[in-house]
Amino acid sequence: MKSKNIEKFKQKCGPWAIVTGASSGIGTEFAKKLAAIGLNLVLVARRKDCLEVLKQNLEQAYNIQVKITAVDLTEPDFLSKIRDLTDNIEVGLLVSNAGMMYLGDYFENNLETEMKMVDLNIKAPSILPHHFGKKMVERSKGGIIYMASMIGFMGTPFATAYAASKAYEISKAEGLAYELKSRGIDVLALNPGLTETEMTANYDFSSMPMKLMKPEKVVRTALHCLGRRTLATPGKMNNMMVFFSKHLMNRQMNTNMFGGFMKKTF
Ligand SMILES: NC(=O)c1ccc[n+]([C@@H]2O[C@H](COP(=O)([O-])OP(=O)(O)OC[C@H]3O[C@@H](n4cnc5c(N)ncnc54)[C@H](OP(=O)(O)O)[C@@H]3O)[C@@H](O)[C@H]2O)c1
Repeated sequence: MKSKNIEKFKQKCGPWAIVTGASSGIGTEFAKKLAAIGLNLVLVARRKDCLEVLKQNLEQAYNIQVKITAVDLTEPDFLSKIRDLTDNIEVGLLVSNAGMMYLGDYFENNLETEMKMVDLNIKAPSILPHHFGKKMVERSKGGIIYMASMIGFMGTPFATAYAASKAYEISKAEGLAYELKSRGIDVLALNPGLTETEMTANYDFSSMPMKLMKPEKVVRTALHCLGRRTLATPGKMNNMMVFFSKHLMNRQMNTNMFGGFMKKTF
């Protein structure tokens, strides 16, 4: 980001940003990039040891403050722990990134795990933007990033509930972006394709027509597109796929194609 743009970004989305799911993958990368821009950070995830190391590294490398909290976002009272840490600071950017992916044959999957996914991928990304977004509205500035997914654009067999949870985030971001634009708040749903993180490490995606992307590129796209677009997908190949699936295929064709790919992943 150019220095003029960094100042603008800090004015709108600073002085503090909160990143959920910061202990690994895309969330860690968000923390690094936002720290480099000069935002103070609140980092949230369950693994405190990973957050501690990240906090130390970022505070050493940049002139910023970092607060961490080990919170399970599927717990009913998770917001109270986050409030304890954030009630006295100005959080200008929410990166709602924590998520889990549960693939498999729907009726062989465990319902309890699916409900955890609903809590993490739908409930927490509803509660957090409501809490922090309200304060942004009072200040007439801020930004909210939802970490959705390309497969949120279509019904996706064997990722049925995961894709549905990401469709929720896409739709929510589109509606909120419209409601909040005139109040000075930018909303983005980022829709990455396959990305090289812990989430994808346990599955075999070799049958997919695209390569796994690095988290660094995903985050760069998000920070570039916030304020410019409501939906964004990182990577040329992924964007080509989005274009074809929207303009040359209907929903059923997309579902059939992705069903074929996903069946081979687990
Ligand atoms: N990787 C991909 O191909 C891909 C593609 C599209 C979208 N996405 C989305 O990108 C986001 C980040 O995923 P990632 O790929 O970076 O995966 P990841 O490396 O597995 O990161 C997931 C993060 O969420 C946190 N988390 C998981 N369960 C949690 C819970 N119950 N409470 C609090 N935090 C929890 C994890 O931390 P702890 O384990 O320490 O709690 C971790 O920091 C997700 O929303 C995912 O759906 C990923």
